Amino acid sequence: MELVVEGRYYRHGELRQGCIGIEEGRIVALDRILKGEMHIDLGSRIILPGSIDPHVHFRDPGMTEKEDFLSGSTAALYAGVTTVLDMPNTKPPVKDREGLMDKKRVIRGRSFVDYGLFAALTPGCDIPSMAAEVAGFKLFMGSTTGKILVDDDREIARLLPQVFNAGKVVSVHAEDESMMGSNVERDPMDHLRNRPLEGELNAIRRLSPFRGQDVNICHVSSAQSMEMAHSLGFSTEVTAHHLFLHAGMVLGPRGKVNPPLREKKAQEDLLDAFMDGKADMIGSDHAPHTLTDKEQEFHSCPSGIPGVGTTVPMLMAMVKRGHLSLGELVRMACENPAKRFGLKKGVIEVGYDADLVSFDGRRMREVDAKRLPGKSGWTPFQGREALFADTIILGGELQLRKGELCGEPVGRDVFHA
Ligand code: DOR
Ligand code: ZN
Ligand code: ZN
Repeated sequence: MELVVEGRYYRHGELRQGCIGIEEGRIVALDRILKGEMHIDLGSRIILPGSIDPHVHFRDPGMTEKEDFLSGSTAALYAGVTTVLDMPNTKPPVKDREGLMDKKRVIRGRSFVDYGLFAALTPGCDIPSMAAEVAGFKLFMGSTTGKILVDDDREIARLLPQVFNAGKVVSVHAEDESMMGSNVERDPMDHLRNRPLEGELNAIRRLSPFRGQDVNICHVSSAQSMEMAHSLGFSTEVTAHHLFLHAGMVLGPRGKVNPPLREKKAQEDLLDAFMDGKADMIGSDHAPHTLTDKEQEFHSCPSGIPGVGTTVPMLMAMVKRGHLSLGELVRMACENPAKRFGLKKGVIEVGYDADLVSFDGRRMREVDAKRLPGKSGWTPFQGREALFADTIILGGELQLRKGELCGEPVGRDVFHA
């Protein structure tokens, strides 16, 4: 055996003390005692499957002053995220095979975690030519950073069946463009008024013809949206910002995001639904903008909140405090995203990728923007309790040790022909 990792690992809903045997990047054995050429003893630390963030915007290529794959994947790693699925609103946007392959060339060898890319749906795009190379396709029904928009139902009806035929998932930014206001905005409440909840609900409703198909509704911002999506057989992602922040907080431009932060009551209802185990996946919608970007006037500042580096650590702190079960966290952050996007990841099981994350429950600390890797340099979660990753093995390679990066950018593209 090349590598044996020992500790209290999560499997079938419980923690058990034992050894995980790894060869060629995969888990090949699970037993009480195993012998390996290399042995990592994690003592009493818990070991979880590496988590998969199905929704990040790493800005690479084209806006690398905000983030690039090296910086974004470092932030992911410190958080315990071992796979990220990156959105296509980069510069240029990924909307054809050529652009997709160019982006792949740019990123290769520059990620500390595994990754997959999304392509954007645009009128007349060639879906079959990209399908084997992507995690899925992104449909922007409402405009946001990047302005790649498909808001016509006939066009949507032409595109989506081709995605399903190719066996891929459509991840949807569900906000109805025609229901957005354009009043001058001074704060998150104004932003919310311009992007009402009914706009999100209506966008989801307009997807009813695709009931039961491979549709994933990103960043649901209310319990009603989540419920409607599920009633149509769609999967859902929730973000930490919609769970923990609301438009009445004093956040200024930092609280500008699409879909918007909702009222306090809506936020609490979403958090309740989440605590009741109703969400399918946690996706950070990591949308890094620099401090300079976010210090502009509210109306003209870009929308988006960074989150890949804080989402899982904050949820781990909730687990540690007994507010969320470990099983729920693993289901939403590891198992479900892996199943949804067809990855041999997300569980500690023979035959699966050896992506392992250990946490040391004695090392809880507060989120501090100064200590977060990544280029944006700010977080709306400053001071919140968090538990960051202690040790990470990615495909059998040691990437993080005692909370510090020790590996190389060996992350692989997990979707290719
Ligand atoms: O607020 C947002 N920012 N929402 C999105 O859908 C895109 C994102 C970004 O890329 O900045
Ligand atoms: Zn979005
Ligand atoms: Zn997004």
